[in-house]
Amino acid sequence: MAKTILALNNLHPLGLDGLEDGFTVLRLGREHDPENAIQAHQNDIVGIVASVGNTVSAKLIEALPNLEIISNFAVGVDNIDLAAADRRGVVVTNTPDVLTTDTADIALSLILCAARRIVEADAYVRVGKWHGGAMRLGTSLSGKTCGIVGLGRIGQAIAARAAAFDMRILYHGRTAKTHVPYEFCSSLHDMAAQSDFLVLACAGGAETKHLVDEGILEALGEKGYLINIARGSVVDQDALLIALQNKSLAGAGLDVYDNEPNVPESLFSMDNVVLLPHIGSATMETRRKMAQLVIDNIKAHFNGDPVKTPVAA
Ligand code: NAP
Ligand code: GLV
Repeated sequence: MAKTILALNNLHPLGLDGLEDGFTVLRLGREHDPENAIQAHQNDIVGIVASVGNTVSAKLIEALPNLEIISNFAVGVDNIDLAAADRRGVVVTNTPDVLTTDTADIALSLILCAARRIVEADAYVRVGKWHGGAMRLGTSLSGKTCGIVGLGRIGQAIAARAAAFDMRILYHGRTAKTHVPYEFCSSLHDMAAQSDFLVLACAGGAETKHLVDEGILEALGEKGYLINIARGSVVDQDALLIALQNKSLAGAGLDVYDNEPNVPESLFSMDNVVLLPHIGSATMETRRKMAQLVIDNIKAHFNGDPVKTPVAA
């Protein structure tokens, strides 16, 4: 049996080459008929490389009798049916830590761009509007309240950065942390009401689906900005669009959406939003480290060693 890795994602350009010495790599993106290609190699596939946007469903897992490992090129694993993997005894790994600081930097970039109108200001200069007078004013960060949903690795890195901008930090999650100097809010609604910037940094998936709904957006209110670097599913996107259209929110900074890469066109004409194409971890340095971790996990597994970054079922 040729040990085959099904690559749903091509990783960093250099990424998959590191697997070629031990495995046959089936790069699905290069196949004319992906379903047929999987069927043809059904018994050979021992591992899957996936990422955000590549659904690893129960159906796919069950169709591969010799599958042993799913190595995700992302820290979030909401694209994988973890219960199905667990039922089959398939190991799942992700890429935590290596992307934490870059993703936190993007959250701060979104806060700064939304509050200080950076994108609008750049366009203001380029199209010559400056000759017509100064542009409208932005909002200060200093002294404002930053409410973070999900004070995990990235949430904590965002908190440290926001604190350096003299912001007051609140956080919400399932449990209070004992080792952090920030105030825990058991009620997301109360935290939203106190926040000028509500920053989403929690895991995606069924548990957090539409955690931010119409009521939370109302609580954040017309002084508030919603910043989302977590997953589109965490926010009721329709409710967000209405709130932004009605200006019942000050604005939003979004790196993630429902059904990426499809972004609601109504957002394109809004001047109170900043839109990024899911680039939290998108630096050469970090993507290289993530790709290496994906490969190291697969190699460790097939060498009989513990994987570096297992995901609990
Ligand atoms: P992490 O350390 O596991 O943190 C996840 C946080 O989610 C935890 O602090 C957890 O808080 C919180 N959480 C889980 N369920 C929750 C719930 N029901 N209500 C509120 N909070 C909940 O993971 P991480 O490394 O910081 O990554 C966080 C997420 O960021 C990833 O899962 C991914 O979706 C997203 N991400 C996005 C990008 C990007 O490019 N935009 C890049 C990397 C990661 P408690 O345990 O206290 O509840
Ligand atoms: C990116 O979104 C990740 O979860 O790593």
